[in-house]
Amino acid sequence: MAKIVIAGGTGLLGQALEKALLAEQHEVFILSRSPKKPNHIKWDVKNGTIDNSKIDKTEYVINLCGENVGDKRWTAARKEALLSSRVDTTKFLFEIFRNQESLKQYLTASGVNTYPLNHGKKTFLESEAFGDDYLSQLVKKWEESADLFTAKVPVYKLRISMVLASEGGALSKLLPLVKLGIASPIGKGNQSNNWVHQVDVSNAFIHGIKHQLNGAYNLTAESISNRIFMRQLMNVHGKKMWAPNVSRFIMKLVMGERATIVIDGAYTSSNKLEESGFQFKFPNLKGALAELFQK
Ligand SMILES: NC(=O)c1ccc[n+]([C@@H]2O[C@H](COP(=O)([O-])OP(=O)(O)OC[C@H]3O[C@@H](n4cnc5c(N)ncnc54)[C@H](OP(=O)(O)O)[C@@H]3O)[C@@H](O)[C@H]2O)c1
Repeated sequence: MAKIVIAGGTGLLGQALEKALLAEQHEVFILSRSPKKPNHIKWDVKNGTIDNSKIDKTEYVINLCGENVGDKRWTAARKEALLSSRVDTTKFLFEIFRNQESLKQYLTASGVNTYPLNHGKKTFLESEAFGDDYLSQLVKKWEESADLFTAKVPVYKLRISMVLASEGGALSKLLPLVKLGIASPIGKGNQSNNWVHQVDVSNAFIHGIKHQLNGAYNLTAESISNRIFMRQLMNVHGKKMWAPNVSRFIMKLVMGERATIVIDGAYTSSNKLEESGFQFKFPNLKGALAELFQK
């Protein structure tokens, strides 16, 4: 049993990870701006305050903080919030835990949207350089801030793909269109849809702890085209894909710069994580969707 603090553990990934860690008998505390449960600890990153009565002897810190990249238009203020919610939280965590002798590892969510975009079928590994688009550079700064911890402990940076969950996340935005039978690929549909099941995200963090992993690891169950992804999603719901592709132009008009999340992409591989012994519970989309929708 270990003492684990999850910053930003109240969201989609954090709630599932907390359950998975508790099932393994760990002691879990959550840092939140709005604490709601006895194991929640109030912190305020902007003002640099935290109730530190419960955080001594922490062994693992996991950072899942971050404003949602897809929710709102990328105005200058939004970009600042996206960056600050990742980098400033990390820096504050470093201030809080840098002198704790008990700390064994720092783990952080990162994004797989970090590689140069639209290179056809080329598959990107962790050894590749960062892309120069906005999201890649955001992830670069996020990971660089996590590297503050490298002088002290191993730093596990999990480059997470689009997470599929039965409630919330990307699927909750697509499902209304699927149920109406009008979901279709975006652009030519050749861009990658890197995805991972929510259970495998929790498992990958636990695997990182068990094996004291250090460095960046892609977490992609399958790197498939947007066309194949949409077709399988429709099929699982008993629908045939018939609607015309949505043009990139329309997506840009509706979403602005953040349309890049759905119209561009880079194919990635989780070989490095799998070579460390990790096994996906949901390695293919059909099985993952079947499990999510039978609930
Ligand atoms: N879901 C995905 O598909 C996906 C894919 C790749 C990477 N990720 C990354 O994984 C992390 C967790 O994702 P998620 O889906 O669980 O996100 P989520 O549901 O939006 O939860 C994010 C958490 O971050 C905290 N937070 C947000 N803004 C903050 C700020 N300014 N200061 C301090 N805390 C802040 C919130 O905690 P409180 O409100 O309680 O303070 C919230 O619980 C995020 O960094 C996300 O970018 C997610």
